[in-house]
Amino acid sequence: MATVRLESLRKEFDAGEVVAVDDVSLTVEDGEFLTVVGPSGCGKSTTLRMVAGLERATDGRVYIGDDDVTDLSARKRDVAMVFQNYALYPHKTVFENMEFGLRMSTDLNKAERREKVEWAAEMMGIPELLDDKPDQLSGGQKQRVALGRAIVREPDVFLFDEPLSNLDAKLRVEMRTEIQKLQDTLDITAIYVTHDQEEAMTMGDRMAILKDGVLQQVGPPKDIYRNPNNAFVGGFVGSPSMNFVDVESTTAGDGVRLVDPDGPFETTLSGPLADAVESGRDYTVGVRPEDVSVTNTGIETTVEVVEPVGADNYLYLDIDDGFIARVGAAVEPSMGETIRVGFEESAVHVFDTDGVSLRDRGLQTATA
Ligand SMILES: Nc1ncnc2c1ncn2[C@@H]1O[C@H](COP(=O)(O)OP(=O)(O)O)[C@@H](O)[C@H]1O
Ligand SMILES: [Mg+2]
Repeated sequence: MATVRLESLRKEFDAGEVVAVDDVSLTVEDGEFLTVVGPSGCGKSTTLRMVAGLERATDGRVYIGDDDVTDLSARKRDVAMVFQNYALYPHKTVFENMEFGLRMSTDLNKAERREKVEWAAEMMGIPELLDDKPDQLSGGQKQRVALGRAIVREPDVFLFDEPLSNLDAKLRVEMRTEIQKLQDTLDITAIYVTHDQEEAMTMGDRMAILKDGVLQQVGPPKDIYRNPNNAFVGGFVGSPSMNFVDVESTTAGDGVRLVDPDGPFETTLSGPLADAVESGRDYTVGVRPEDVSVTNTGIETTVEVVEPVGADNYLYLDIDDGFIARVGAAVEPSMGETIRVGFEESAVHVFDTDGVSLRDRGLQTATA
């Protein structure tokens, strides 16, 4: 078991033309499951590859436990990596694929290696596949082999790079649970990269969000969901996405009024957030679809589309350009109907013109 610590990690490509990872500092605790999420090209794989030793850092340090491994080769680091494309040797059997790492990195004898492989195959529920070749296997089975190959060495750290992206939706959800159980049983520190915010939310003890190589926020998924540091994080985490409306502020009694000059949206704040809003400035308000409800008073708007999604309906409203309310399936206005919607003050996020959340300015610090 081990912590993983990244210290001001930076990676440039093409003689500095591309900054893939920009000053990332982060600690993964012993036995923790950290998910790293962000859009394609934001530096997730590069970060992971620097932890694995597959990519050399331009600057900064990587520590595993107390050891500075920045200059160690991949083979000398006690990590195992699982990739999206499985990366199995096509001409080796499942057994040989799983045994190979043990042959290279340990001095176990043949019988001991067999015992380990059989143990790992048992863990992954694939003992009957040991004599098969990869091309005889389904995608799900291949990923089980890849996982088996990773655990057989009992590494200190597991690194996953979008391991479930090639699987269909149902299998993906099954494997999520399985990977979590595995990591929990083996008590191995894990870093799990994905572009799928739902996967990151459901799997991670904590999640780290990257954008353009820069770390935006790290914390338990619930805290990030409730208190995004900035508009990017607010919009990236949660589905459907947070609604955003550009507003202007004016004072209103003890509080502030935030009004969209081009549409029906307005809201008044009187709680702690109101103190952070300055009068006469531009802001962006964020409200999550599930925090919006159909009310008797509130913002008057037209229902453009009603989209049923099982237990809920998504109401597309004529507020700004695209505003969704997620309501129970029993709330079923018709298209074109005029309704009123509202939300609690506690559901309102206010971002300044740089996208920084006012809650993040020491006003209402996330419950750590
Ligand atoms: N070997 C490379 N040479 C040049 N640019 C690279 C290389 N690897 C990655 N990049 C660039 O670095 C950025 C981050 O890539 P990557 O870490 O693969 O992102 P992600 O895994 O989040 O999709 C991208 O702009 C990508 O094009
Ligand atoms: Mg990647």
